Amino acid sequence: MSLKDKNILLGVCGGIAAYKIPTLIRLLKERDANVRVLMTQAATRFVTELTLSTLSQEPVWKDIFPDSVSAKEDWTRHISMGEWADVYVIAPATANTIAKLAAGMCDDMLTASFITLRPDKPNLIFPAMDGEMFASPSVQRNLAWLSRNGCTVINPESGELASGKCGTGRMPEPETIAATIETAVTENLRRSKLQGKSLVITAGPTREKIDDVRFISNYSSGKMGFALAAAAVKRGAGVTLIAGPVHLPTPNGVDRIDVESTEEMNRAAKERYRSCDIFIGAAAVADYRPANHVAGKIKKNSNTMEIILVRNPDVLAGFSKQKKTHQLAVGFSLETAGNLDNAREKLEQKELDLVAYNTFDGITSGFEVDTNILTLIDKHSNVHELPLLSKNEAAEQMLDVIEELMSSDK
Ligand code: C5P
Repeated sequence: MSLKDKNILLGVCGGIAAYKIPTLIRLLKERDANVRVLMTQAATRFVTELTLSTLSQEPVWKDIFPDSVSAKEDWTRHISMGEWADVYVIAPATANTIAKLAAGMCDDMLTASFITLRPDKPNLIFPAMDGEMFASPSVQRNLAWLSRNGCTVINPESGELASGKCGTGRMPEPETIAATIETAVTENLRRSKLQGKSLVITAGPTREKIDDVRFISNYSSGKMGFALAAAAVKRGAGVTLIAGPVHLPTPNGVDRIDVESTEEMNRAAKERYRSCDIFIGAAAVADYRPANHVAGKIKKNSNTMEIILVRNPDVLAGFSKQKKTHQLAVGFSLETAGNLDNAREKLEQKELDLVAYNTFDGITSGFEVDTNILTLIDKHSNVHELPLLSKNEAAEQMLDVIEELMSSDK
């Protein structure tokens, strides 16, 4: 991988992490890249224009309107910068600039060049700010919008922040940013088939109430479904995650709907049947619910008690039944080891395009753990046996197979 002769446009906002930008420019120049820096006014409070122009060996640009018009290019520099770039990197990206980018504002060179960047070029945004600011609904909403519209948002890291507090908000180190840029430029962010597609993913367990204080549920942690949601957003998909009760943070850019019971999950899913391109049922849905939900708390009046259970709707099969030709249905089949045929049956019965067979040992695969061993079977009977992987990596490989399926169905 090389950045030789690549044109890197670097937007610097006014955050304390801007102190790392001189090192980043150094690293990019060492890789023989051409670097042009755009700064917001606020950025000049943290790092000087002179430093960045000396290191990049180019003038630094801030305002759309030049102090003096000395060359023809000065009239249209806000356009030519976007055209020049092989990649546009905004680091650190502050809450204020992120809001401006999401709103389409362009009152300086940094924001205007964002709009004029050629659509086939990668745009990497490195948010860096206080942890509370980063988690705030407005920042998350704006980042979600940017992700959905082709930007790659690279999550800040967790650790000590300028405030002295610990949290998620640190900009990655310059070496990491340089490596990310290298990958983005050389692969030009492998154009994913999921770009612009709409995914609905169910995740986690459901709870079926017995009375007002007790319920039937299972050990599902939701990790697999959340990993799929995060990976799909990174590929440019719009993702709605319908989550049962789990203790997981919402991945960046994901639209999350929290539900409790299967019936609630089913209602939320049904509303999205028509708009979704791919439905992934990663939830461990309770197959049965108590026939009667008793108000208050049931008293222990006898040594035994009976609870009559009734079947729950099958959320995924409900989607499959009405699915149109352009839509894909993907499910999981959690089985006692050695029951791969059950997964094949499920693929047929639920009219799925792909099923992920997995087993549970509580150590390497199944509920709660961070790894999984999946065997993917598609509707053409192709089998992909994945090795032991982190759930994040398993999610990536599953999406690769989904993308292959999308190509073969064309
Ligand atoms: O429980 P079962 O093994 O049938 O689950 C297979 C697939 O169907 C999973 O993807 C699960 O999310 C989905 N499912 C569902 N609604 C149910 C039961 C299962 O969506 N009621």
